Amino acid sequence: MSEVKTYPIINNPQYKPHIDEDTYHRMYQQSVQDPDKFWSRMAHQFVDWFEPWEETSNVDYNKAEISWFKGGKLNASYNCIDRHLKDKADQTAIIWEGDEPDQQRYISFQELHDEVCRFANALKSRGVKKGDRVCIYMPMIPEVGYAMLACARIGAIHSVVFGGFSPEALKSRILDSDCQVVVTADAGVRGGKQVPLKANADEALKGCPDVHTVMVVKSQNNDIEWHTERDVDYNVLKQDMQPECAPEVMDAEDPLFILYTSGSTGKPKGVMHTTGGYILYTAMTHKYIFDYHDGDIYWCTADAGWITGHSYIFYGPLANGATTLMFEGVPNYPNASRFWDIVDKHKVSLFYTAPTAIRALMAGGDEAVTKTSRQSLRVLGTVGEPINPEAWEWYFNVVGEKRCPIVDTWWQTETGGILISPLPGATKLKPGSATRPFFGIQPALLDTDANELDGVASGSLVMKHSWPGQMRSVWGDHQRFYDTYFSQFPGYYFSGDGAQRDGDGFYWITGRMDDVLNVSGHRMGTAEIESALVLHESVAEAAVVGYPHDIKGQGIYVYVNLMKGKQGSDELKAELIAHVAKEIGPIAKPDKLQFADDLPKTRSGKIMRRILRKIAEDDIENIGDTSTLAEPAVVEKLIREKL
Ligand code: WTA
Repeated sequence: MSEVKTYPIINNPQYKPHIDEDTYHRMYQQSVQDPDKFWSRMAHQFVDWFEPWEETSNVDYNKAEISWFKGGKLNASYNCIDRHLKDKADQTAIIWEGDEPDQQRYISFQELHDEVCRFANALKSRGVKKGDRVCIYMPMIPEVGYAMLACARIGAIHSVVFGGFSPEALKSRILDSDCQVVVTADAGVRGGKQVPLKANADEALKGCPDVHTVMVVKSQNNDIEWHTERDVDYNVLKQDMQPECAPEVMDAEDPLFILYTSGSTGKPKGVMHTTGGYILYTAMTHKYIFDYHDGDIYWCTADAGWITGHSYIFYGPLANGATTLMFEGVPNYPNASRFWDIVDKHKVSLFYTAPTAIRALMAGGDEAVTKTSRQSLRVLGTVGEPINPEAWEWYFNVVGEKRCPIVDTWWQTETGGILISPLPGATKLKPGSATRPFFGIQPALLDTDANELDGVASGSLVMKHSWPGQMRSVWGDHQRFYDTYFSQFPGYYFSGDGAQRDGDGFYWITGRMDDVLNVSGHRMGTAEIESALVLHESVAEAAVVGYPHDIKGQGIYVYVNLMKGKQGSDELKAELIAHVAKEIGPIAKPDKLQFADDLPKTRSGKIMRRILRKIAEDDIENIGDTSTLAEPAVVEKLIREKL
């Protein structure tokens, strides 16, 4: 990594950064020397409490037991809305930009308050109470935010399921956390195409007998099936609902939400976050990492169905009283200037997106960018996967015109908020590096024997100490929480990622070390896709690996061994690809599918993915040792038959 480019800290004369380099070092030292003292101070500064906590933290990684601010009472929706009403009732809280460029809505904090209270009262009218789980399967319309905050207001636990997931995926998530109420919309619309959410929900609910209420937001006003005993037209119900609803008093450790994410086994995990630590951590990271100042217009392009949408469209920015923009559409509709047109239209100053979007826009050429102004932009962020230096440089030079620092933010669904990232006024930048840990975060690199590596090193990325935004459990399966994150390296939280540390102490994330793929920034377990494939009557066995993909970061490469007597054909290939999309959702659609009479296995029958990965990557020279295979000839055949 010797010829890495380094960019000095950019000083913007109009903005004094919240954190400069000296402050970063000073606060970082405080945060790791006496974490409880540091986090206590921050918790007073960033969060409004109804009652103070009794114990700042209590953490035992050997039992996977984590608590922060126990005994403290607060409400997340109160922190995101009510406390801003005194000064900011008329300030825009949410800017909504629709799929078509002429669609927008501006929702003030007062309106947000009234809408969230009505939604909360509507949920209550259907029997929802503290601790109940509510599934939210919605397009990117303001009501998704109202529904989330309404749950938070009454102490219900939301489980948002990404609108791109299939009925099957939705069903398993509803069942896993026993949601009895589902909030959805007739349809979403992205790039001019409708997504039939209500029809998908109807399909899913055939297998969910305990769901008694489906709250439907009619957004597109199209024809949908209606089940009178179960379906409620939210816009009608809302008319009778009062715009006042007292926030439930919650303990800091009461669950706020569940969000499913993929792991290395077939079944997605319900990542559970609690209230106090999460609100503190998302608010604080949002303020410092984007250097948020009052008056900024902040836009995160994520979907509400992912953790980035939870933490950095809704909870973090709203807790800071920010104006947050949400967008229902896609980057290239109606044309490749759409992002930058939105930036100009709403004078966006802080912009946060994913490398996959940057790469796709970069491939479309500079002109779509350069013909727009973008003068309002001040900080640019990226998240979701490693950003390659070429894409970083393009984002920095062409989009930001060398004026805007890039914050490459590394974190996970499990971490609740950003753990490693530059701070705009405090960190020099190196394209491709997430740079340094945030306050209170103590990363380490371990070798396979769990030894901590010093200085310049490469290893498994772990955290030595808890932080308030950390997940607390896997819903319904605490043992799995322990097994997944704390068993391999006792005493540490293991992220599942590998990383390198350079001479400046900067971190470079190298990607997942387990069987999890990162396709366009979406996390996907290879086992999930394999399980979907073997459900098909023609498939005997399947193995899924990732391979480098110019735009998506990783593409999905599938090897399929057919049932005896079945013949591979282009039709069957198309059918199997469609089958995966139907079982999981379009985001899991395989990019390449190869029929294989046999898969390389060890003598004990374990599929050798390492070899399949090399074949998929076209890295035949580095296939390595195949002598431990039961049938070494299988490999030759796979290479020969590769598409
Ligand atoms: C990857 C998204 C490199 C990483 C917030 C992690 C990244 C997984 C970065 C979590 C980044 C996320 N650089 N890799 N800046 N950000 N990742 O749970 O592999 O959807 O473990 O959370 O994305 O994905 P998740």
